[in-house]
Amino acid sequence: MASGARPKVTIVGAGMVGGATAQWLALRDYADIVLVDIVEGLPQGKALDLMQAGPVLGFDTNVIGSNGYDETAASDLVVITSGIARKPGMSRDDLLKTNMGIVRSVTQQVVAQSPNAVIVVVSNPLDAMCHVAFERAGFPRERVIGMAGVLDAARFRTFIALELGVSVKDVDALVLGGHGDTMVPLSRFSTVAGIPLPELLPVDRIAALEQRTANGGAEIVSLLKTGSAYTAPGASIGAMIDSILLDQNRVLPCSVLLRGEYGIDGLYVGVPVKLGVGGLREIVQLSLSDDEQAALRRSADAVRDLVEAMQRIDAAE
Ligand code: NAI
Ligand code: 2OP
Repeated sequence: MASGARPKVTIVGAGMVGGATAQWLALRDYADIVLVDIVEGLPQGKALDLMQAGPVLGFDTNVIGSNGYDETAASDLVVITSGIARKPGMSRDDLLKTNMGIVRSVTQQVVAQSPNAVIVVVSNPLDAMCHVAFERAGFPRERVIGMAGVLDAARFRTFIALELGVSVKDVDALVLGGHGDTMVPLSRFSTVAGIPLPELLPVDRIAALEQRTANGGAEIVSLLKTGSAYTAPGASIGAMIDSILLDQNRVLPCSVLLRGEYGIDGLYVGVPVKLGVGGLREIVQLSLSDDEQAALRRSADAVRDLVEAMQRIDAAE
């Protein structure tokens, strides 16, 4: 990062999640933003609208909208949200073929302009798209990280707080695994003011909250009908941006390329990691029970299935 300059964040995809992320980051007033989209006028319009909130809300964030990549040059961090979102009845995996083409081409253009950036992948299916971005970018694994666990854990925290009638501020929760139906909410590592969840709720209630968490994205899709969640995803991406650009060393569940950690090799899977300047600082290793480890392995297998499906798509073309 150039000394004295604000960090530069590019957000590719100026749709619902990209727009929410830009709004959240603009309010924080420490980075400048470039919004990129293929739809003419969309990123420019959203950028101008957001800039005009500055005098009212008191931020000086510079926001530029573009249909190209010249303006993204030398970004410190790039968020990739471009792609199509889930519609009712559509699984994340249905998005595979379209979004892999989009993420591949976007990554290539991003990297040409910002070879030192950290990339935060958001497009679905998340863990598979991390593989696409990692392979196309040619960056070390430290600089290609997926956002999902922060959102999934936020959903679990919300449901725990609602169930117990307590402040979300006192609830911590952990969700591991891929961002899909097989994700692994870990109640043993979830707490209310330090008290483990299993001491506060019976097994059947915990199971219901875990199930609602795994179904959290689909629940919102079925309510919105025209798209998927964007406010909590934008906030979750924001937490990762803060930790990386402000060197906060927060420990957050993120999708990272495992190389033997948790007994998984060569797959992007959600685990707790420390994030700071440069991206991934450390993978936090937990001692999982046999059941927890088996659930994580099943989730990793689902990611592997997607990676193999992408290989078949490529081989057929
Ligand atoms: P959206 O449809 O509102 O926005 C996507 C934007 O990407 C559109 O404006 C579209 O024009 C743009 N786009 C498409 N192809 C492009 C290209 N080649 N270059 C630049 N821009 C391009 O969708 P939304 O709701 O913002 O979701 C975006 C993605 O994020 C989806 O894949 C969705 O499933 C995923 N998502 C992932 C979450 C996670 O936890 N990882 C959470 C929420 C959404
Ligand atoms: C979600 O979980 C669509 O993956 C997105 O809301």
